Amino acid sequence: RNLRKFIQALPGLGPAGIPVATPDTTTFPGADHYRLEAAEFEQSFHPDLPPSRLWGYADVTAGQSPNHRYLGGVIVAKQGRPVRLTLFNRLPSGHPLPVDTTIPGAEGPKNRITAHLHGGFVPWTSDGGPFSWFTPEGAHGESFLNAGPVPGSAAYYYPNDQSARLVWYHDHALGTTRLNAYAGLASAYILRDDVELGLIDASFIPSREIPLIIQEKSFVDGSDPNYVFGRRGDLWYPYRYEKASDPTGRWDYGPDDDPPGAVSGPLPIPSVVPEFFGDTSMVNGAAYPYLEVEPRHYRFRILNGSNARFLNLQLYYSDASGSEADLSRAGPAFVQIGTEGGFLPFPVLLNDPPQQITFDENGNANRYTLLLGPAERADVIIDFSDVPLGAKLILYSDAPAPFPSGDPRNDYFTGDADQTAIGGAPSTPLGQGPNTRTLLQFRVVPRVGSADPRTLDVLRANAMRGASEDHSRGGGSILPRIEKLSPRGARVRNLTLNEDFDDLGRLIQRLGTAEQAGLDTQGLPTWGRNYSAPATENPTAGSVEVWNVFNLTGDTHPIHFHLVNVQILSRRPFDPELWDGTPTFTGPARGPDANERGFKETVRMNPGECTTVIMRFDLPDVPFSVPPSPRTGGHEYVWHCHILEHEEHDMMRPLIVES
Ligand code: C2O
Ligand code: CU
Repeated sequence: RNLRKFIQALPGLGPAGIPVATPDTTTFPGADHYRLEAAEFEQSFHPDLPPSRLWGYADVTAGQSPNHRYLGGVIVAKQGRPVRLTLFNRLPSGHPLPVDTTIPGAEGPKNRITAHLHGGFVPWTSDGGPFSWFTPEGAHGESFLNAGPVPGSAAYYYPNDQSARLVWYHDHALGTTRLNAYAGLASAYILRDDVELGLIDASFIPSREIPLIIQEKSFVDGSDPNYVFGRRGDLWYPYRYEKASDPTGRWDYGPDDDPPGAVSGPLPIPSVVPEFFGDTSMVNGAAYPYLEVEPRHYRFRILNGSNARFLNLQLYYSDASGSEADLSRAGPAFVQIGTEGGFLPFPVLLNDPPQQITFDENGNANRYTLLLGPAERADVIIDFSDVPLGAKLILYSDAPAPFPSGDPRNDYFTGDADQTAIGGAPSTPLGQGPNTRTLLQFRVVPRVGSADPRTLDVLRANAMRGASEDHSRGGGSILPRIEKLSPRGARVRNLTLNEDFDDLGRLIQRLGTAEQAGLDTQGLPTWGRNYSAPATENPTAGSVEVWNVFNLTGDTHPIHFHLVNVQILSRRPFDPELWDGTPTFTGPARGPDANERGFKETVRMNPGECTTVIMRFDLPDVPFSVPPSPRTGGHEYVWHCHILEHEEHDMMRPLIVES
């Protein structure tokens, strides 16, 4: 009943793996035009699993019949050449997953979609924000100004006025984002520029490039008669908010544990849950795949595309079985050259040796290898040249779930526990992944052709090491320099990450300011504000702002900014218990990790820390006039947590740029 590990090859980019869309280059001279549809299809994630009902994107640009494959619709774009995307909504009215219609905006048609280019520098009318959803019939949200050629379609304009990076696009419909993305409405968008192509030509960066989109799923096994949302083999998603069965007693998930007054009445079914962790790891839409590599350099474009799970990626040789990592034998180092914001100013050496995760007394991870929260990306080169032929290596993760407070001693850590522990109903899952630590197996096979030039050594020689090394190297990096934003004259905002209870007594996560927003359901002061409350973050176009974000909760939140890239200035511990609108700091500030010293748009913010970021609110140039949002009167973007269950309930706020 366990899935066999490493019996299927990693899907690559291509018609049989993850299909790449082909643009029409003539309809709009100077721009690439894509026509994609969103539709339902079936696909199996593993030879031992029946097909699952999925939602996804597929290319119909040339009028061909769509090749629906999980994660399909990949777009490869070039800096300076705009992309125009026409998206047709051809989804059926029934959703493949349990939809809780009690959270804001989730009432109404279940097949509402909107495409958000995550990391794209785009006009707000093409940002695909939560209120710009549309249905196959042409119903739409209040902020939908980008109607396509026929009802049930939308038109997006992406200027691509950005440096090379891995962007991605995914659904962002109000109230159903977490479900739509989990069902498959997500794909990659690879942006190239001349700097990158020059580095590839000079073989500083290998041309062998492989995306690693890491996610997880659970599957319906048919044994729970109350699970009426899908049949055997379909994707499973929690549908009941329940008190966790938590043997460690560390979690406070649900009404039984809540203080008096927190609960009012029965909870809906289906209900949102605080976080969802699957039990079956996926890379590029395959459960436990293997990848054959030659003794050469490879470039991996890694995306944590999970709903809620963090990753701490390490590379080890396998044990004798080939299926488990031998934690005493380190694999080759990672040379990280980029993040979601493009190239780093310097390469960073990781996995040299691998660092298993450890935490400080506040529960913050203080030792790790390559830590990626949901939506973070890493551009990483691995050199297999010195690995013996026939060797097997395991890409491994040991980040606890939830992060960082999941107990590493219990089974939830490895993902093979009963899902009740996480906040949903029992899954009795078909997949029953042996664990969520072993993600991918590399097999080293004989090289075809000559060895790679040792140019990677230059990157390696210029690399910063580890998470905490101070960056003092002045020159020699071949990676492009990045602009450093200056806080001088910047407006400073103090903001908060909050956890309290909604009207039904369920945990709710929210964003807020340092001004008390009111009282929570227990009559205690709260700083958290709902997404639907009037905007408080309304910067002026072109201005620079510094945001001090105080995390008052027990979780690390990957906070994502639409429109802007940010730079991390510092993280500083404070005592959340003493928070009254002003912080009591408990230690000195520290700088960002070595691999966070470029631009970022998804930033891990740890519990009991103030994370300070700086950004400039430029708006993109587009060849048409951009009207203000009818809903909010400005350029309407959002900032939010990218734990999708948090985002949806209700850890998102408007970001209104005023011009
Ligand atoms: Cu990837 Cu607003 O999201
Ligand atoms: Cu969060």
